[in-house]
Amino acid sequence: MTAQQPPRLLRGIPLAVRNLQKTFGARQVLRDIDLHIPAGQFVAVVGRSGCGKSTLLRLLAGLDQPTGGDLLAGSAPLSAALEDTRLMFQEARLLPWKKLSTTLA
Ligand SMILES: Nc1ncnc2c1ncn2[C@@H]1O[C@H](COP(=O)(O)OP(=O)(O)OP(=O)(O)O)[C@@H](O)[C@H]1O
Ligand SMILES: [Mg+2]
Repeated sequence: MTAQQPPRLLRGIPLAVRNLQKTFGARQVLRDIDLHIPAGQFVAVVGRSGCGKSTLLRLLAGLDQPTGGDLLAGSAPLSAALEDTRLMFQEARLLPWKKLSTTLA
């Protein structure tokens, strides 16, 4: 990091999830999720396959919209901080057939 970066990026952004809901059709995947993550804290989301981990992360990254509830960065809507958001997919998406060894060669 350089001294030119805004102080906000050096400290991180506190995240708040309030009463988050997400449904796909009749299937409710996330229900009444409340979470507060202080600035700069690392958090692991753990659960069985299909419990909604990626759905939660997609909502936090702004790739999908909640059915209900609030996502906040500090006291502002998280959607206002999306320029500072990064997402790494759990599988290779761009060139799924390409091996790591050939990528580095
Ligand atoms: N766009 C969608 N349309 C319909 N159902 C969806 C959609 N995205 C996710 N789901 C469903 O929501 C549930 C949660 O999916 P999600 O991908 O969030 O699970 P996960 O916890 O990340 O699982 P894994 O550990 O396998 O990655 C699953 O039942 C999935 O089929
Ligand atoms: Mg997942």
